[in-house]
Amino acid sequence: MVRDQSSYRVIILLATIFTHLLGASITLLVLYWLVNFREGFAFMSPVKLKIFNLHPLLMILGFVIFSGEAMITYKAIPATRYTLKLIHLIFHLIALATGILGIYAVFKYHDELDIPHMYTLHSWIGLSTVCLFGLQLLSGFITFLFPGAEPATRARIAPWHVFSGLVIFVLVIVTAETGLIEKFIFQKLKQGQEAFVVNFIGLLILLFGIFVGLIVVIPLKRK
Ligand code: HEM
Ligand code: HEM
Repeated sequence: MVRDQSSYRVIILLATIFTHLLGASITLLVLYWLVNFREGFAFMSPVKLKIFNLHPLLMILGFVIFSGEAMITYKAIPATRYTLKLIHLIFHLIALATGILGIYAVFKYHDELDIPHMYTLHSWIGLSTVCLFGLQLLSGFITFLFPGAEPATRARIAPWHVFSGLVIFVLVIVTAETGLIEKFIFQKLKQGQEAFVVNFIGLLILLFGIFVGLIVVIPLKRK
């Protein structure tokens, strides 16, 4: 049992380092893609694709990476339970705020070019995911922070909180992957250098999701 726990600690340490490296690589690669191969980004511009580009930028760098980092805080950071709870909350709040801004950007882009809204599977899963994320945040806040449920109720709710958190994170990853595929097809990328960069971003996001999941499910006992 003690040996199990110390081997879990080693696995978590290695997986955490790898997850951070993946997060940093995804960030650099998304910036490289949008600045080097695309038009860059802006909230207001006659080049409408600059407004669109804010969407993948905010969704990946904000929603995907910050929610992933928030989910691993309990295992990755040695701190008191209260501090961990606050970091978990703040990272999730950043994820939700950037997610909402990223969706606002793509709606703005569609409005300015008179493109209809919500006609793809990506947009249906995406909007549902952001709504579920908001609900999870609200229920987590009420149960664990303010006003906070009785200890026995918290203990009963915790496994459900973890389960629904994981399901929502899977949806976040699925949405990001379908978004990248859509963009790939809309731009008719086929086999060039940009196509490789976009596919590689998708691959790293998948790995990021797998490693966050691994860290969350390892049954490490807190000291
Ligand atoms: C993971 C977070 C993401 C969420 C929650 C999300 C959500 C959405 C939503 C709700 C729309 C509909 C906008 C409208 O109808 O006006 C949309 C559109 C779009 N998104 Fe995303 N998205 C995400 C990530 C991405 C990524 C990484 C890309 C890659 C470029 C992308 C590409 C697109 C494209 C091309 C559209 C326009 C076509 C469509 O409506 O499906 N999305 N997204
Ligand atoms: C969308 C928002 C949220 C998601 C996706 C989420 C997801 C998760 C996940 C996956 C875990 C498991 C971590 C692990 O065991 O390694 C967890 C644990 C936890 N979360 Fe959240 N969470 C969210 C919001 C919140 C909020 C707002 C609070 C309250 C401040 C909170 C409080 C907690 C607590 C106390 C635990 C530890 C539960 C235990 O005793 O095992 N969460 N959360």
